Amino acid sequence: MRVHVADHPLIAHKLTYLRDRRTDTPTFRRLADELVTLLAYEATREVRVAPFDIDTPVAPTTGIHLANPKPLVVPILRAGLGMLDGMMRMLPTAQVGFLGMERNEQTLEATTYAHRLPDDLDRRQCYVLDPMLATGGTLAAAIHYLVDLGADDITAITLLSAPEGIERLRQAVQEIVPPITLVTGAVDERLNEQGYIVPGLGDAGDRLYGVV
Ligand code: URA
Repeated sequence: MRVHVADHPLIAHKLTYLRDRRTDTPTFRRLADELVTLLAYEATREVRVAPFDIDTPVAPTTGIHLANPKPLVVPILRAGLGMLDGMMRMLPTAQVGFLGMERNEQTLEATTYAHRLPDDLDRRQCYVLDPMLATGGTLAAAIHYLVDLGADDITAITLLSAPEGIERLRQAVQEIVPPITLVTGAVDERLNEQGYIVPGLGDAGDRLYGVV
């Protein structure tokens, strides 16, 4: 698995406000959206493109557009939804699939409770959105799910990651043949006993959408 930490002052600046407990929900949502747009720039460096002929007002030329099949963007419900608009702004012709996964707060294991994806992901590049890579269980399960459907290139995009989660994800995907990439805004210190990232930003879903 390739890991790319998007080490950029604008990303660090926005992450600082995202982490701050005084940041209210509307501001949190806006910052998460802006951060994804910056991370998407890194994450889509190898998005597949095809040549395409156009005429400028001056001369014919060849440009590029996204190749078919179009990439699939998969937010992991619920918190990944807060990253969807920012990603689609960068890839407006991508398709969107949904994976609902929840973590058992006692065992920290992830289970799938909902899915809405194309039946066949043959030759698809997939971008999986989940703000927090904590234990790694959710992303590992999501990646295996997509590979079983035929996805042949998967990039996970997270706002924050824990070193323990990166390591677990690395081990969980090491047998997988298609390339797996992680693009993250920062790698924090550690996980606490409750499986929260430290210093982190708390519960990303609650901060995006309120406590349910
Ligand atoms: N999920 C969150 O929302 N926050 C964490 O710190 C870990 C998992």
